[in-house]
Amino acid sequence: MPKNYMIGNWKMNQSLSDIQNFFSQLKLENNQNNFWITPQSVHISECLKHAPATGVLIGAQNCSHEDFGAFTGEIACRSLAEIGAHFTLIGHSERRSLYGETDQDVNQKAKKAISEGLIPVICVGETLAQRDNSQTLDVVLSQVKNALVNIQLHNESEIIIAYEPVWAIGTGKTATPQQAEEVHAQIRNLLIELYPDHGAEISLLYGGSVKPANIKELLSMQNINGGLVGGASLKPESFSDLCKAC
Ligand code: PGA
Repeated sequence: MPKNYMIGNWKMNQSLSDIQNFFSQLKLENNQNNFWITPQSVHISECLKHAPATGVLIGAQNCSHEDFGAFTGEIACRSLAEIGAHFTLIGHSERRSLYGETDQDVNQKAKKAISEGLIPVICVGETLAQRDNSQTLDVVLSQVKNALVNIQLHNESEIIIAYEPVWAIGTGKTATPQQAEEVHAQIRNLLIELYPDHGAEISLLYGGSVKPANIKELLSMQNINGGLVGGASLKPESFSDLCKAC
């Protein structure tokens, strides 16, 4: 069985006092290192001061595919690993739509992250126009395939895939569990094809307006192994509830 994860994506939110408050009020049960938070990069060290007491692991929202050098504003995977980050999101739809990240960028970043010991959480998903044109599976499967070009895996926990339909992110519109499962099942088949030894065990998360009220139904689907959550991860109560369901 793939491991279940609950990952909170804080995006460009939370103040220093919000962070302190969040970790002091978090109530987690049965934590098996599968509850993760990604704050703004400038707050990773602050989160790492508070998180160990809760067992929550901390990661980044983005990284560079370069090693080091003249790349003003970028963040090196090695530096993230050095300060204790555990993972990094890659190719979130906001990175793709607002900052022009391509499938090729996603692939290069994923390779760099793995080589530095970070787990890439590779985000994929279709826009509403693509869904309306019946292109969902073509778009999502090609994003997954392109993200994984020339990536060899040694075990199933080296990568995580997050399916986040763009039309469901921050909109309050969640894909139905059936809509999400339809896509997850196809991603699963592709992963098994690409990685016969590990594909069946790679964790596939759903994201897009996940909240305590809908997480159980989503998790009841065979190929949904957790959530990538924006808005509902900001408050300790709702993130605790989401983790409990996981
Ligand atoms: P949301 O965001 O839960 O607020 O829809 C999810 C995401 O962007 O990862």
